[in-house]
Amino acid sequence: MSNTDPRQILVTSALPYANGAIHLGHLLEYIQTDIWVRFQKSRGHDCHYVCADDAHGTAIMLRAEQEGITSEELIDRVSRDHQADFARFGVGFDNYHSTHSEENRHFSELIYTRLRDKGHIATRDIEQMYDPQKGLFLADRFIKGTCPKCHTPDQYGDNCEACGATYTPAELIDPASAISGATPEVRGSTHYFFKLPDFADFMHEWINDGHVQPQIRNKLQEWFESGFNEWDISRDAPYFGFEIPDAPGKYFYVWLDAPIGYLASFKNLCERQGIDFDAYWRQDSSAEVYHFIGKDIVYFHALFWPAMLHGADFRTPTAVNCHGFVTVNGAKMSKSRGTFIKAATFAEHLNPEYLRYYFAAKLTAGVDDLDLNLEDFAQRVNSDLVGKVVNIASRCAGFIRKLGNGQLASSCAEPALLERFIEAGEEIAAHYESREFGRAMRRVMDLADEANTYIAEAEPWVLAKQDGRDQEVLDICSVGISLFRQLMVYLAPVVPAMAEDARRFLQLDSLDWHSRTQGLEGHTIAKFKPLMTRVETDRIDAMIEASKEDLVEEQKLKDSAKGPLADNPIADEITFDDFAGVDLRIARIAKADYVEGADKLLKLTLDLGGETRTVFAGIRSAYSPEALEGHLTVMVANLAPRKMRFGVSEGMVLAAGDDDGIYLLEPHSGAKPGQRVS
Ligand code: MSP
Ligand code: ZN
Repeated sequence: MSNTDPRQILVTSALPYANGAIHLGHLLEYIQTDIWVRFQKSRGHDCHYVCADDAHGTAIMLRAEQEGITSEELIDRVSRDHQADFARFGVGFDNYHSTHSEENRHFSELIYTRLRDKGHIATRDIEQMYDPQKGLFLADRFIKGTCPKCHTPDQYGDNCEACGATYTPAELIDPASAISGATPEVRGSTHYFFKLPDFADFMHEWINDGHVQPQIRNKLQEWFESGFNEWDISRDAPYFGFEIPDAPGKYFYVWLDAPIGYLASFKNLCERQGIDFDAYWRQDSSAEVYHFIGKDIVYFHALFWPAMLHGADFRTPTAVNCHGFVTVNGAKMSKSRGTFIKAATFAEHLNPEYLRYYFAAKLTAGVDDLDLNLEDFAQRVNSDLVGKVVNIASRCAGFIRKLGNGQLASSCAEPALLERFIEAGEEIAAHYESREFGRAMRRVMDLADEANTYIAEAEPWVLAKQDGRDQEVLDICSVGISLFRQLMVYLAPVVPAMAEDARRFLQLDSLDWHSRTQGLEGHTIAKFKPLMTRVETDRIDAMIEASKEDLVEEQKLKDSAKGPLADNPIADEITFDDFAGVDLRIARIAKADYVEGADKLLKLTLDLGGETRTVFAGIRSAYSPEALEGHLTVMVANLAPRKMRFGVSEGMVLAAGDDDGIYLLEPHSGAKPGQRVS
């Protein structure tokens, strides 16, 4: 046993959004957290690991609508998928809950009303873009338009991907709702704000008090210096979330109730297992609380969350542990390159524990990005886990079966060597504790090298061929198995399934950290079965191909869910008078010409039954001039003339068109030039 009392530890990973599949980027976080939790449990501490789906918000509401199901149906399905993915990767939550739960409603209301009653909530009217067709206020990412700086079309409402400019959606040229295509209007509405500046002193101390990594503290410090604003925590109906108690039609913004989901999930666990919730969350709690998160959500976890908790008389987290982002083969995960790999796709092709090991081998306590280089991945797993660790057991097990009938020697032939392996456990534990998993893995692999060298030099397979040396062979191989056991204790948090197989092979009750000091003299082991096979590169290739196919499937699903007009919605309603203002006339194409220097245009001379007009039409890709001359068509006759580079265009001809082609409208025969069309 560890000589100190067990620590009480609550650990969380960020709550994944309930509108998409778990991918390898997510998995870095859940694997990192799970390794740390398994390590703590192995050390004999009371450690609880909770998570939940982040189920609220506009994105989820719209996704459900797109699929033609209710938000509840969507989040139920996604929660099942998420939990299946996590289980495949050995992520062993003690509880997996949802932010759309009664516990979460309770704590959201509790925290909000406490903050409100202490004067930390303000209300204020703000102006926001509104989609009049959809009846919905639009977050910046739901508005698209032309960049006001560089004039690149189709940019999001907050920044331009082409020139990097940041702006407000109101500054966009020709803004449009990304949901309906309608032109957004500016509308006023009352919003609720959390008065973060009330906590400036508290937060200043908190971020300098060792609760965050140094790089994160520096970043937070910058935010501090650039000013500290109130945080908008309300959204107007329609919204999928919790209504604010004293404010009908106003909902908690998803990021308000998301971290509260940590409390809700833990509460749900406490109720089931009789754990004392308050012992973990009251202000003078001696328990430890750790949040594991990605670097993109620091602001919410290291500013708003501690301030909210403090303001509502809860304790604040012991630490917020931040990690970097996963890249694949040196670049951002990419759908078209097949490196946007879903957890399920990986698990169909490769052993999930390969990934756990590779992430562990590369993880540090820092926030640097982590590259999954697929060549390096195969090489590292094969040489470390298969070539070094499994190899020890497979070289020794057969001799023990044959010479000792499965029973190890009755005394250890290399007590000093074994002692060194046991002692190394303290250093390895320190690396785990400080989340320096890469260091822990290097230390373990150094030990594995040592064990292999010992066996290679002792050459039991040579001795086995000589008469009267069986006891020596048994002694050597027993040492080998004892060393292998030490390694599996140290690796168990990283590769739990492999460790479970090893535990059965070793016929031990546990591979917990403290169990390693109990010697295996005279102990009987089971028949050896291969514990891990090599990574095959053709499986990696197959996984990449499958990921590309995932993309195609997804696109099909999106297209079918959308319906034919989704990308091309019907425009805003007009009145009859609006329509009557457009003067449409039958025109005869008297002449059609190419326009020099314009590869899309044809210059049309249109006869309106006496009067002629010149119109530049973008139909050159579909028609040659000769094919048009003499044909009738329809034109907008009262359009204000437009000056173009090639001349003045005095109207428009009507044509249908999209990516598939352009089709000029032609009336039935008998129509006469100049006749009105209505
Ligand atoms: N729902 C929020 C978190 C709410 S916590 C109260 C969210 N969800 S997420 O699904 O987008 O991300 C979940 C976690 O996965 C986050 O910590 C995020 O940083 C992490 N990752 C998502 N993509 C990642 C990579 N490509 N690489 C590493 N981590 C990544 O944010
Ligand atoms: Zn721009």
